Formats: sequence, C-alpha cells, structure tokens
Amino acid sequence: MPVEQLKQMHASLLDCVACLSSDDLREQYHDDLSPLGWHLGHVAYIGQYWLHEVIRGDASRTAGMDQQFLPELIEKNRRQSLPGIDDLDVIADAYRDIETTLEALQADERQGHQLLERDYIGWFLLQHAAQHLEIMHMVLQQRQLKTLDHSLFPEAVTGTLSEPEPPRVPALHIESGSYPVGFQGVQAYDNECPGFSRQLEAFLIALTPVSNAEYLGFIRAGGYTREAYWSEAGWQWRQANRVDSPQHWHAKGDSWLQVTPTGVTALPAGDAVNGIAWHEAEAFAAYAGCRLPHELEWETAMKLSVDLTSTTGGGWEWCANTLYPYEGFQAFPYQRYSQPWFDQRHYVLRGAGPYTDACVRRPSFRNFYTADKRYAFSGLRLAASR
Ligand code: AVJ
Ligand code: FE
Repeated sequence: MPVEQLKQMHASLLDCVACLSSDDLREQYHDDLSPLGWHLGHVAYIGQYWLHEVIRGDASRTAGMDQQFLPELIEKNRRQSLPGIDDLDVIADAYRDIETTLEALQADERQGHQLLERDYIGWFLLQHAAQHLEIMHMVLQQRQLKTLDHSLFPEAVTGTLSEPEPPRVPALHIESGSYPVGFQGVQAYDNECPGFSRQLEAFLIALTPVSNAEYLGFIRAGGYTREAYWSEAGWQWRQANRVDSPQHWHAKGDSWLQVTPTGVTALPAGDAVNGIAWHEAEAFAAYAGCRLPHELEWETAMKLSVDLTSTTGGGWEWCANTLYPYEGFQAFPYQRYSQPWFDQRHYVLRGAGPYTDACVRRPSFRNFYTADKRYAFSGLRLAASR
C-alpha cells in the first residue's frame, strides 16, 4: 500500500534534517541544489496540489504556492528566504494532511478520478518524495564538504583505499537479438513508457561497476592529465574546474578518505566509485579501452541477469546516451516531468546510488543529469562492442 510507504517516506524526509538548525535548512550549499527546507516544502506542495487541487478540485490550500514551490517558477537562489521552509511543524502537518487525504480518496467509492486508478497517484507521490529524499542527501554531502574542518580528518583509518587496481574488462557477453525495453506498470514514469522491443548488436558489459580501487588506478595512471582520454568538451570542463579526483574524495598521506552526507569515513576499495561527472566516466572508459553502455544495453543486461542487478546500488551508472522519448511517448501526469529534459544535454544514469529508495529501483528507471554534474552519487560500468 503506497499510503503506508508514503508515511514512512515523509518520516524519513523529516528525520534527515532532525539535527539541523533553521539556518541549515535555508542555506544553499551548492549553486545547482536547493536549500533542504525547500525540498521539504516542495514535497508538501506537490502532494497537496495533486490530491486537493487536481483530484478534489479544491485549490484553497495551495493557492499561490506554485510561485514558491514549482521549480520552473522560482530561481534556485531565491528559495532560501521563502516563508515556512524552516518550520518543521507546518511541514509535518502538511504531510499528515497528504496521508489522510490519500487514504480518504482511496476509500471513497464515489471517486472515479483516473489518477486514483490502481493507486497511481499514491505511487507517483511516493516515488517523487523518494527522489527528493535522495537529492537531500546530495545537499547534505555538499554541506559536509563546505563545513567540515579538513585538519581534523583522522590520520589513519582502517579499511580505506590505498592500492590501485587495473580496470576489469567487461566479461558478460550478451548476444545480438530483440530485447524487451521499458515498463508499463502502474509505478512507471512517463519516460519508461511505452514498453517495446529493441534490436541490439552483440555487446559486452562488466559484471560489476567500476570500483574505487579501479578508479584510483586511473588517477595514478595520469588519467586526469592525459588529454587523449578526454573528449574536447570534457577536457575543457576538467581544466576550467581543476578536477583531479572524485568530488568527495580526500587525500590523507598515501591513502584516501571520503566525505559522506553524515561525515568522514573510510573509502572501501571494492565499493563502486561515485562522485564523478559524465566527462570523467567517459575518460575512464577510454583509459580502460572500453566505452560506456547505451542505456538499453544496460537495461537488457539487468533484465537478463539477476546477479547483475545485485551489483547496483553503490552509485548511479552513467550511460553513453542522452535522454530521449521512446517511440509513442506521452507526457504524464504532467508535461514537465520528462519533456524539458529531452534536450540532448541530459545524460541517462541507470541503477541506484547509496541513498536510492527501493521504490525507484528497477531496470527500466531512467535518471538524468547534465555531463558536468558530480553530486548525484554517480559512477559507471564499462561496456564494449564485440
Ligand atoms: C530525475 C532526479 C533529475 O531532480 O529534477 C523531482 C527528479 N522530478 N521532482 C529532478 C524530480 C521532479 C529529477 N531527476
Ligand atoms: Fe520534484
């Protein structure tokens, strides 16, 4: 039942800011990321908008709130001074209202609204809140990166990264053939629909995502200073931003620690690397003599192999292609969920990161960010043609 899960999700949203001050809730820690309190208010607004305004036809609760909480109507740098984004009691009340309204709408047999069929709107609101919970962890990590005192980082931490490893070549063979792609279930986002079959050439894909130790191998091999590994746009980006390691890695003596949303920890050698931009993923693949998978290759491999699915979750995996509409795409439940991002600038990521909720983990789920973004817990998996 999505209502029960939605209650837990709302509790998790409030939990993740429980120890923070009003200033922390309002601070914008990264130019591309909103204040934590804005995310809380946005999730409240979206829930009340769909349930009250769209389904019940009552706009009294949400009147004027679109100007504050619809991303396209308010600049990111104007969000920190909005009223109420640090008032956790008001936000908790709104979440309770969403939960009880959804329960009442589902129980009311006179309600024939299309969005209530098979609990569509409940699943939508649950997944929407889960994505914002993940983004709040990105904000919390940026907060740590800005506020932690690096001189206090521990000298020695056991189990941390110090030995590089060579890249593991892709070992899973997938034959050419016609494979099912996409997802038609009630939880599907518009960009996963409609399901269809797609002919693929034979290819190879790695059994595991690239690990921290493999990534250290790239750094030690001069990956960040050899222009040959980089595209022209990637090299320009690397130079302009002076990038030389994943965003949240921190060198201490000969080894590396990491800054997580909750503090400093060891950087386990075997964990999937994350904190890299698409440009870095592309350069790593060139260094390894491989390429990034097309998203449909990635999805096909996951659907064929349950073992592969169990290797996801350490970081979103950058794919070779940008987000595009599948043939027969229709925007729902609103125009702007996917449509604005079919702009040939947003690259697809598949899989899941360390803060991705189970409700959005599926082989057909398409995440997307521009090539320069490093904060989305993003890594990669190697592929090759045959
Ligand atoms: C798919 C994560 C890029 O952050 O804009 C949240 C998710 N869409 N609210 C985003 C989303 C509407 C989306 N990403
Ligand atoms: Fe949103």
